[in-house]
Amino acid sequence: MAMQTIEELFEHELRDIYAGEQALLDALDQMANESTDREIKKAYTQHRRETQGQIKRLEKIFKSLGQKAQASTCPGIEGLIKEKKLFIREKPSDELLEFYNIGAAQKTERYEITAYENLIDMADKLGMSDAVEWLEQNLQEEEATLNRLKAIASEFEVAEEIGEEV
Ligand SMILES: [Fe+2]
Repeated sequence: MAMQTIEELFEHELRDIYAGEQALLDALDQMANESTDREIKKAYTQHRRETQGQIKRLEKIFKSLGQKAQASTCPGIEGLIKEKKLFIREKPSDELLEFYNIGAAQKTERYEITAYENLIDMADKLGMSDAVEWLEQNLQEEEATLNRLKAIASEFEVAEEIGEEV
């Protein structure tokens, strides 16, 4: 029963990212709601829409494998979502939460980028050219999102609390 083939590993990782993308739909929704900035809100909503398309592409891959789309769990992405929940307990200001969210979103993009790079490598080894193409489309969207978030973060300014001079 032991897992032995790259194909099995590919399917395992596919179920992982399929679960991760689904978890991110809610997380992106929540971050868009928490945002008070039009541009940032738009970045989350647009990526949420892209994520729905990414899920569809993953479903096409399951279909090409003759399988029903099946999510496992993605403790990696869930862990990042949990970190965010823990951070909220620190009672950050709205502005600081906004800045934190931009950084947290970048962490998930990094995770997804590596997941897709690995899947592309495996699909390539397995000669699954359609899957390679669909996964590359997902990868490109994640990379573009990461770059957009990086630009947003570098322009972001948190007003310093005016305290007494010591
Ligand atoms: Fe994604």
